[in-house]
Amino acid sequence: MNLLRKKNFQQLAQRPSTLKKALNAFDLTMLGIGAIIGTGIFVLTGTGALTAGPALMVSFVIAALACCFAALCYAEFASMVPVAGSAYTYAYATLGEIVAFIIGWDLILEYLLAVSSVSVGWSGYFQSLLDGFGMHLPTMFTGAPGTNPDGEFTLFNLPAFVIIMLITLLISIGIKETKRVNNIMVVVKVSVILLFIAVAIFYVKPAQWSPFMPYGFQGVFTAAATVFFAFIGFDAVASSAEETIQPEKNLPKGILFSLGICTVLYIIVSGIMTGVVPFLEFERYIDHPVSAVLKVAGQNWVSGVIDVGAILGMTTVMLVMLYGQTRIMFAMSRDGLIPNIFQKVNPKFGTPFVSTWIFGLISAVLGAFIPLTQLAELVNIGTLSAFILVAISVIVLRKTEPHLNRAFKCPMVPVVPILAVLFCGFLILNLNPLTWLRFLVWLLIGAVIYFTYSVKHSKLKDAS
Ligand code: ALA
Repeated sequence: MNLLRKKNFQQLAQRPSTLKKALNAFDLTMLGIGAIIGTGIFVLTGTGALTAGPALMVSFVIAALACCFAALCYAEFASMVPVAGSAYTYAYATLGEIVAFIIGWDLILEYLLAVSSVSVGWSGYFQSLLDGFGMHLPTMFTGAPGTNPDGEFTLFNLPAFVIIMLITLLISIGIKETKRVNNIMVVVKVSVILLFIAVAIFYVKPAQWSPFMPYGFQGVFTAAATVFFAFIGFDAVASSAEETIQPEKNLPKGILFSLGICTVLYIIVSGIMTGVVPFLEFERYIDHPVSAVLKVAGQNWVSGVIDVGAILGMTTVMLVMLYGQTRIMFAMSRDGLIPNIFQKVNPKFGTPFVSTWIFGLISAVLGAFIPLTQLAELVNIGTLSAFILVAISVIVLRKTEPHLNRAFKCPMVPVVPILAVLFCGFLILNLNPLTWLRFLVWLLIGAVIYFTYSVKHSKLKDAS
């Protein structure tokens, strides 16, 4: 059994690229912001405010630093194997099958549950919008069991379930988010955030910011581990190396600009939120805290506009994530690491139809029955683990493969990758221990699949 068998790096690297090099730093920044802004800022800020108080702003800075270090490593890793794909493919060519499998398995958790998490955020804003028109769903169908702030019985998050089914339908019949749609959505999302800032800033009462850190540093760190979710998605930028003009310059620009812009917006928004509404009151608006701030301020009309912007923005995040999910499964299945069914392409639609529906249904059921914070924490731990592996890989590969062509080089190796490992590891430590346990179970399931199925069916079996 050769767990470290690798794909032929030279073959991968020399495979002629069929993708057009068309993306510049601006496009990459738009791509990044399109994937980043979603449930994290629109919903998890409420949860974060309850944990950190007004110091939520500091939590965002800590999470952003972790992402920035990880992103620089990710970009080097992505630019070494100039084929479209994710960290899974790069790891397979450079570090060996078992590491690739673990990264792929982490990414599945990330994408799968990110779709579910964002659907819960979507549902919160959808219900807030309905509320604005005086319409309400039966309480039973408004959220996962035990999530009603007034303690009323809830069974199932119906809007979350329905939106994922609709997105699954779109992706399964081959509708892909285009650059144009993405750019429009980015403008919508950023506009509603700027609108929020422009209107809500006049209602800030600086006295609400004190005490600034009601739960001390522990509260700030715990919130940082939660709101890390708000930054997920920038890996989409790093994965576009093959389609980028001058990736060595444009990739880091795209990553750093999109992260930088989102960080600034997040800090201002969280500062304003805790300045308008006393942080403990977010308990009551946990599903749609950003628009709720404006309702509290009496700006119902603007609040409705924010609901619509958030709904549209979160829809595209789900599209990107479900699409990414099916493509990772596709790549792993093509390599023989998971069953064939995940690479079956429907002849009519040209998409992995069955696989899309399997994962759409799983995401929808999870989104309907599991509370948002539990889902988001699992997404975070999966992503943080993948980032740690990528950062370690950058250091290892600089030693083992020093001459490989790297279109983008992470600055200050090994300092930056070590910082990435430390920051991401620190955030993992600040997640709920139950999340660690659930993640461990996930990894064990992966290990069973790997050792009972993948080792036997791997396409590299004969080569090793
Ligand atoms: N960063 C994305 C969001 O906040 C996943 O929705």
